[in-house]
Amino acid sequence: MKNILITGGAGFIGSHVVRLFLETFKEDKIINLDALTYAGNLENLTDIENHPNYTFIHQDIIDLVGVRGVIKENNITHIVHLAAESHVDRSIKDPLAFVQTNVIGTVNLLQAAKECWGDDLNDKLFYHVSTDEVYGSLGETGFFYEDTAYDPRSPYSASKASSDHFVRAYFHTYGLPVIISNCSNNYGPNHFPEKLIPLMINNIIHQKSLPVYGAGLNVRDWLFVKDHAQAISTIFSRGKIGDTYNIGGHNEWTNIDLVKLLCKLVDEKLQNPVGQSEKLITYVQDRAGHDLRYAIDASKLKDELGWVPSLQFEEGLAKTIDWFFSNKNWLENVTSGEYQKYYDKMYA
Ligand code: NAD
Ligand code: DAU
Repeated sequence: MKNILITGGAGFIGSHVVRLFLETFKEDKIINLDALTYAGNLENLTDIENHPNYTFIHQDIIDLVGVRGVIKENNITHIVHLAAESHVDRSIKDPLAFVQTNVIGTVNLLQAAKECWGDDLNDKLFYHVSTDEVYGSLGETGFFYEDTAYDPRSPYSASKASSDHFVRAYFHTYGLPVIISNCSNNYGPNHFPEKLIPLMINNIIHQKSLPVYGAGLNVRDWLFVKDHAQAISTIFSRGKIGDTYNIGGHNEWTNIDLVKLLCKLVDEKLQNPVGQSEKLITYVQDRAGHDLRYAIDASKLKDELGWVPSLQFEEGLAKTIDWFFSNKNWLENVTSGEYQKYYDKMYA
């Protein structure tokens, strides 16, 4: 039996990973460690909160003593590490918070795992969930491969790159059994509306202006969050210790084309006149150091472990929009209070 610690399990991707792991690894215990920052929300997990194999622990990974205690007391054998500060715009405003959680927090977890596991590394795993942004920015062609040189360009991606380096350092220096995956942009249910897709859905619903950075020509490679969770589960089960796996959807969109598609789909749902919401598109000041394009080559994961995304983009977007329409309370709860202050400051 495994005791699997999932960090950041109350966040967007983490909550899908917690749910999938409970479904998939039925004999194992799932322990969700989360500091419940503005991005952490236990409402994401109400359906499984009473599951007999599930435990929630409120803990900040910046606290080494606390993290060590959690690993020891719960006899943790496997760690899937998602806890992070995840929003690029916030990293531009407050880079030190990203160093604290993403760098120091990750090293705390590595160190605590190393101390608690000692020489008994049989059936142990430290799985680090990372991002394609560590590879930098592509021009109009080409892809990120697992051996693409790191070239992070925002405080967020620099902090994630640093954490990846520490994970590899613990593998090479101490033999800690690690795996890293680097994924492209996720979207789907429970996505916090500071990120492009849920922010636009929320603003279209409320007929607020739709802030597109720069000329809207930056390209992102979008993957449905449940497909990412499935990829993590596959790699967790069958990935090779010490290896890195890229995860992506081969699904590139310029921001402006994506925002126009969202306008069309949400207008249809609201039975608005054709073209109504596109009029809300407003070009605003570009993000500082805005990476032009990300695109993942995920063929290693397909060839070695057989993972491919299950959903086409239009199907995934339709499911996502339906989820936001069916969960208006969730949306209202996360967009009141602090969010409004953030939004007013960010988009002033
Ligand atoms: P998120 O911001 O929605 O959730 C992050 C979670 O981590 C929250 O529950 C938060 O409370 C928790 N957390 C933050 N700081 C913490 C701390 N100091 N101690 C303990 N918990 C803390 O993030 P997400 O979008 O779900 O991303 C999860 C992971 O996946 C991150 O590591 C991110 O870098 C990576 N990732 C995200 C994407 C994406 O498109 N969202 C793509 C690739 C990789
Ligand atoms: O590539 C993986 C990364 O994807 C993850 O590691 C990050 O955690 C995640 O936040 C995401 O980063 P991005 O910066 O690509 O995502 P975001 O949704 O913030 O922005 C997507 C694109 O949309 C980007 O080019 C900036 C643009 N944008 C974003 C917002 C919030 C706008 O034009 N307007 C906006 O209001």
